[in-house]
Amino acid sequence: MSPIKVLMVCLGNICRSPLAEGILKSKIKSHNLVVDSAGTAAFHEGSLPDKRSIAIAHRNGIDITDQRARKISLSDLDDFDHIFVMDESNYTNVMKMCICDSQRIKTSMIMDVVHPKSSIAVPDPYYGAENGFEEVYQMLDTACDAILKKTI
Ligand code: 4NP
Repeated sequence: MSPIKVLMVCLGNICRSPLAEGILKSKIKSHNLVVDSAGTAAFHEGSLPDKRSIAIAHRNGIDITDQRARKISLSDLDDFDHIFVMDESNYTNVMKMCICDSQRIKTSMIMDVVHPKSSIAVPDPYYGAENGFEEVYQMLDTACDAILKKTI
């Protein structure tokens, strides 16, 4: 059976979506699941995750240092079964890339899995305080539990 493929998307692919990828991968047990992440922008292409994301993942027993940032591609819109974005800006940017409804309907705000239709954003922690990463981590941990329970 072919695996279900999940893509986590944020702006830079160095803070939020690498954490989402790492957290979901850490929770996979018997699930036949492939998880990847990407950014809607290419600023950080090829970079390691932000050191603050690496640190909070590490504090929670997760190593995300194998990840490198990449920009979402048109083929991702077909290759993945679920595309979870972090905020409305990411959502708008992915929607602009979509050319058909099958691509659009697989794309959703990640916190909608926990609070349907709420459009709650996972806040961009890049320019914020250190504890922003703790909030992001907790939100994504809750979302990943819900993804495994409800979506997959
Ligand atoms: P991310 O955070 O989208 O969660 O990876 C950001 C990373 C970099 C920038 C903005 C947000 N930046 O402006 O470079």
